[in-house]
Amino acid sequence: METKRIYVDPENKTSLCDGNSLEDAVREGAELLCQGEVVAFPTETVYGLGADALNERACARIFAIKGRPADNPLIVHVTSIREAKKIVKEWPDEAEICAREFWPGPLTLVLPKNKIVPDIVSGNLQTVAVRMPSHPVALALIAMAGCPVAAPSANISGKPSPTEGKHVWQDFQDKIPLLIDAGKCIVGLESTVLDLSGEIPIILRPGGVTLEQLAKVLGRVEIDKGAKGKSEVLSQPRSPGMKYRHYAPKGEIQLISGQSQEKVEELGRRLEGEKSNKRVALICLEETVASLTAEALGKIDLLFTLGTREKPREAASRLFEALRICDEEDIEIILAEDMPEEGIGLAFMNRLKKAVGKGNLKKTEKI
Ligand code: TXA
Ligand code: MG
Repeated sequence: METKRIYVDPENKTSLCDGNSLEDAVREGAELLCQGEVVAFPTETVYGLGADALNERACARIFAIKGRPADNPLIVHVTSIREAKKIVKEWPDEAEICAREFWPGPLTLVLPKNKIVPDIVSGNLQTVAVRMPSHPVALALIAMAGCPVAAPSANISGKPSPTEGKHVWQDFQDKIPLLIDAGKCIVGLESTVLDLSGEIPIILRPGGVTLEQLAKVLGRVEIDKGAKGKSEVLSQPRSPGMKYRHYAPKGEIQLISGQSQEKVEELGRRLEGEKSNKRVALICLEETVASLTAEALGKIDLLFTLGTREKPREAASRLFEALRICDEEDIEIILAEDMPEEGIGLAFMNRLKKAVGKGNLKKTEKI
């Protein structure tokens, strides 16, 4: 199947090059969704691979195209609290508080599911994940389709999530009928998944809305063990997606941690030890680059600077892009600098640790 790629500029309401307006692109996407097809579209976090959430066969296609394990449920995207309430059985006060504070935005709420949601969407769980994205293209698309839209990140299962249209193109060219390409995603990391189905709100996956932001409005919030990003085997994680290896580039990621000076010394040692026949990348902050010696820098084949320590959100938003570029450049060893696990740093480190970890990949699992 030939994939049509429509470039849109959400700011201008016109497309970048092919003469279609934003409205044309959205109409085409909405028509395909209504016909049970799969459409890739931008959100503020990462690109999504969407289908009508109430159409079982359409959702089954998402799993097939992505190579996604059937027990890993999808997030359902809506355009209002009213629509969210239609797909859940209960809407507790915490949901109302979170939705009013953080929607539209990078927060997904896990709630007891209404039976209109097919089991395939929820991976046979009794709960469903729901979110209202803030990207104007996503909102316009869902509104025009007139149905809730189930959408995982638009990457082949196991690969880094797509933060640009070209990443979706790399993974799904000729596998889907339409990609609406609106350039880069601002958040660049997926939404926070917050489980509100139990007594205490629990973060199953840290993301664009931080623990600190949630604690401020909810009071008590806990973080699930699996969300810390350790590469331990989690046979029964609360969020099924957490047991699979994620965000994995082809090269081997080595985490560089410690205080600033320790990291610089550690990098020096690792680079010295590296044989020159291996292709090495360094993903780090500006401040670290400035402290490296010319000799150390000379051993690096690809240097990807995430930006300054002063702007952690910007740095976090570039991680997936960096991992994808490492693949394009056939990098074998990726040295990646850590960030403090606070604010957006918690989500950044969760993704990085999942990419490092190989222990959570069972041999039979598809990545
Ligand atoms: O930012 C995002 O959340 C993006 C954009 C496209 O919205 N979507 C995304 O979807 O990252 P996906 O499928 O790649 O990740 C969804 C995560 C998985 O870890 C999944 O296990 C978890 O949400 N999840 C979905 N439904 C759940 C449920 N009912 N209970 C627990 N976890 C759930
Ligand atoms: Mg994903």
